[in-house]
Amino acid sequence: AARPRVLSGIQPTADSFHLGNYLGALREWVVMQETHDAFYCVVDLHAITMGHDPELLRRRTRLSAAQLLALGIDPERATLFVQSHVPEHTQLSWVMECLTGFGEAGRMTQFKDKSARQEADHVSVGLFTYPVLQAADILIYQADAVPVGEDQRQHLELTRNLAQRFNSRFGETFTVPAAHIPKETAKIFDLQDPTVKMSKSVPAGVVELLEDPKRSVKKIRSAVTDAGREIQYDPENKPGVSNLLVIYSALTGRSIADLEAAYEGKGYGDLKKELGQTVLEFVTPFQEKVRGYLDDPAELDKVLRRGAEHAREVAAGTLKTVYDRIGF
Ligand code: ADP
Ligand code: NA
Repeated sequence: AARPRVLSGIQPTADSFHLGNYLGALREWVVMQETHDAFYCVVDLHAITMGHDPELLRRRTRLSAAQLLALGIDPERATLFVQSHVPEHTQLSWVMECLTGFGEAGRMTQFKDKSARQEADHVSVGLFTYPVLQAADILIYQADAVPVGEDQRQHLELTRNLAQRFNSRFGETFTVPAAHIPKETAKIFDLQDPTVKMSKSVPAGVVELLEDPKRSVKKIRSAVTDAGREIQYDPENKPGVSNLLVIYSALTGRSIADLEAAYEGKGYGDLKKELGQTVLEFVTPFQEKVRGYLDDPAELDKVLRRGAEHAREVAAGTLKTVYDRIGF
């Protein structure tokens, strides 16, 4: 039987991915390429909704692709590409915009949050319609599954509604995608404030995969821990230590219970030291691989061109049917 298809994307909005991106999302991409027909894209179209610098975007798009490859996305197994290289996304997006209610789009809480933080003049129509483009990203590949975190649930619901709406108005055309709730992913918290999630917008508490590993080791050493001395997984009362245990467990594959037992009678300093070493051992070869891809721009281009070619074959097939159904 054909493998179920998965679609996921990541925005090229930072130079480096961080540990939260990896353990919360990208690690699952690597796993799913074994069980699914995986389509993974660097979503540069989504990275221009709030204003951007062209050179920075170009660099970050390449850096994102290089990091995905270095993390283990295999272009022989998965289709890895840059969203803007496949114009069918925006072509389908227009059709979907015309099926989306203005009020329906206005109810997207992420738009409300993001636009509330901007001056009215800087809130673009693109930011408003971005969930519709996201729907097109998914539907153009007839994806069966989409890995989603909490913040993306509402957008996937919109996608499902649009697929069903199109199907009932114009005839069975789209697969209605289901949310894939990853078993293995973890929410990673800020090292300085373990009550908020690790994010690129808070530099002090984030481990960036491309920063000097010594810096990462230092950040872990100075991570906020909790009162008491026992190394126990207790997110309620010991969010700092629990976060370190989650990171440690995710990077090594050792269970939390196993780690608790191993650290019985030891202190926070021991845990931080050994976790620092673990992170160092993870990022050092990773950074070497990223450098390898960046040092060979022709090869990186080739990988992305091939990915886009394959993506376009699938996307063009869907668009052709869509255009036919709607009377073009
Ligand atoms: P950031 O929050 O740093 O801006 P993004 O919003 O670009 O990162 O997130 C990219 C992906 O990484 C998303 O799938 C998101 O759910 C995941 N992610 C981001 N931060 C974390 C975190 N701290 N823990 C787990 N997953 C995360
Ligand atoms: Na974010």
